[in-house]
Amino acid sequence: MDGNIFEKILGQDSLFIDRKAFDHAFEPSNLPHRDHEIESLVRNLVDALNGHIPSNMLLYGVPGSGKTVVTRFVLGQLLDKGVEMGQPVQTYEINCRNVDTKYRVVQTIASQLSRRGDTPIPFTGWPTDRVLETLIYRMDRAGGVHIIVLDEIDNLVARAGDDLLYNLTSLNTVLRNGRCCIIGISNDLNFTQQLGPRVSSRLSQEDLVFHPYGAPEIQDILSERVETGLRDDVLEGGVLELCAALAAQEHGDARRALDLLRISVQKAEQRAQVKVDPRHVRLAQSQLEYDQVTPVLKTLPLHQKLVLFAIKLNEENGLRNISTGEIYRTYADACMKIGFEPLTPRRISSLLNELDTLGLIMARNVSKGRGGRSKQVNSAIPKAIDAISTMGESEPLIGEAALGRYNLQGQL
Ligand SMILES: Nc1ncnc2c1ncn2[C@@H]1O[C@H](COP(=O)(O)OP(=O)(O)OP(=O)(O)O)[C@@H](O)[C@H]1O
Ligand SMILES: [Mg+2]
Repeated sequence: MDGNIFEKILGQDSLFIDRKAFDHAFEPSNLPHRDHEIESLVRNLVDALNGHIPSNMLLYGVPGSGKTVVTRFVLGQLLDKGVEMGQPVQTYEINCRNVDTKYRVVQTIASQLSRRGDTPIPFTGWPTDRVLETLIYRMDRAGGVHIIVLDEIDNLVARAGDDLLYNLTSLNTVLRNGRCCIIGISNDLNFTQQLGPRVSSRLSQEDLVFHPYGAPEIQDILSERVETGLRDDVLEGGVLELCAALAAQEHGDARRALDLLRISVQKAEQRAQVKVDPRHVRLAQSQLEYDQVTPVLKTLPLHQKLVLFAIKLNEENGLRNISTGEIYRTYADACMKIGFEPLTPRRISSLLNELDTLGLIMARNVSKGRGGRSKQVNSAIPKAIDAISTMGESEPLIGEAALGRYNLQGQL
């Protein structure tokens, strides 16, 4: 090969001016279609600047509806204003997906308040009560209002229960000099059901729901990024509309839309094309689906794979709305072919529910008269993905089962 292998790519003109505009971590200064949510947060948090305690809040909304980015934006402005007014405000953002135990949450906040000469709090090892006492001492020492954001809070509660939330929402009764406000963020609307009634009522003094974005709203969000992130006129007509429409179908997820657009531009670049057109968006969509679905398919346990195999096999034979009876017959047949004992129909029924929850199939309950119920099942795996081969890559027994001959019900 002639010259350095990076040379060719380095010399290429990029269609991006600023790729960072499409990063997940990018924080835009303008957040279209979130005025109401921003205002609700501001109306509550302004109390921190007036010397009062803001209400605790719970923010809900589907993934990609702007909860994190809106909260960061508002807290950033609050900090600036606090400095300007000489009002001490401290904010803490904890992502409970990463920091998911009581000890670690308290340790993280308390460490942020440490001053020179303080004993560092280790990542583990102290009794949790001691860490909590240290936190209270340091919050009082700093004074002012402390705003603790617990992002993806449902993870913390699922893992560690609501004990910590009880402590945190009680802090104002023990703090002498400081004040504290908790903002929980969740994409699970039923999350408060996991909380005890005392914690639940204290935490959700104010609820704020972020509705899913519609296609036109997503298009506005994308347009702003295009202005700063892409060279002029690289998008053919219909590209933004298609990205927005596809992401709106995907529960109105702005993150998905930004990913789609970024990958579409990359697809055009990889083909040394100077314009992005809707075909690139389709390619990007297939890639995203592939990246999303294949790891799930590969990690399914054997019997889940066999159930899905049975569904796919029937579909390839032209059958739609497959009955549980038919799935079971093919599944049991496949088990026999690889020398495994089939699980009971009842177990298969619960495996079908799990596949439904994972989004790999769509199951519909239908009544069969005389109070009998059955399911009708269709796979929900994007067409571009060969599910049987993908499962076979991680599980040779699926490949073996696929070699057999099956007596399938024909197309009805
Ligand atoms: N109104 C908006 N204006 C500009 N960008 C937005 C807006 N809403 C969301 N985004 C962008 O979409 C992406 C997803 O937003 P964000 O991370 O805030 O979603 P979320 O609701 O916190 O999702 P999750 O529940 O998955 O954490 C981010 O890159 C964010 O910058
Ligand atoms: Mg978030």
